[in-house]
Amino acid sequence: MKGVVLAGGLGTRLSPLTQVTNKHLLPVYDKPMIYYPIETLIRAGIRDIMIVTGGNSAGDFLRLLGNGNDFGLKDLYYTYQRGEGGIAEALSLAEYFADGEKVVVILGDNIIEDDMAGFVKKFKKQKNGARIFLKEVADPERFGVPEIRNGKIVRIDEKPKKPKSQYAVTGIYMYDEHVFKIIKTLKPSERGELEISDVNNHYVKDGTLEFDVLKGFWTDAGTFESLFHANSLVHEKRRK
Ligand code: DAU
Repeated sequence: MKGVVLAGGLGTRLSPLTQVTNKHLLPVYDKPMIYYPIETLIRAGIRDIMIVTGGNSAGDFLRLLGNGNDFGLKDLYYTYQRGEGGIAEALSLAEYFADGEKVVVILGDNIIEDDMAGFVKKFKKQKNGARIFLKEVADPERFGVPEIRNGKIVRIDEKPKKPKSQYAVTGIYMYDEHVFKIIKTLKPSERGELEISDVNNHYVKDGTLEFDVLKGFWTDAGTFESLFHANSLVHEKRRK
């Protein structure tokens, strides 16, 4: 299975921190933000990894990460997303890299405590479809939110005003090889992006979307509040 880290976008919500550098290069406690999703994939046993970058300072990813040897990888793959066309658009750039295999996709600003290795094994056995990961949060309206009936997700709303559950759809996703075909059918949302929630709703309609609930801490780090929170969570973990 291949891994894709999505680190495109312009990070405007963190301006002026992102005026002269890329959001994913900002520190989260003792490491650059992008280290966390890469390490999550490696811990899960994924060795073939592509970074989709974009926006400011894209060349700095190469200076920081090189060929991935510091992470024990043989190589790292890169591509560049122009503009900010959305998470699904960024993922579409990895089609050639995925080469018909299943993929684990992780957002470059997500910090996940869980070891995902068991879930990767589970997804290898899953015949087809997708698998997403939920976490109970106090502010679901900031995220993709699932509506769950009889233990099944029946739809996902992106940043709903009235959330149908207390769960956030976290930024780690597992997809079969059909995901790239699905992205080609998407239309931009009101915010002008190809939405990952639309991809997931496609699998809901097919009846092939599975989910698990994460046990450890999870946060994004794309706003001042959540970046601060991410720093405290990692700091707390290191102290333990
Ligand atoms: O963090 C989880 C949430 O991430 C999900 O619950 C939402 O369903 C999902 O839409 C997303 O929400 P955000 O609005 O918080 O995503 P954001 O625009 O902050 O982008 C998150 C990461 O995705 C960003 O760090 C890099 C990558 N990205 C984003 C965009 C818009 C790209 O690579 N390219 C893009 O064009």
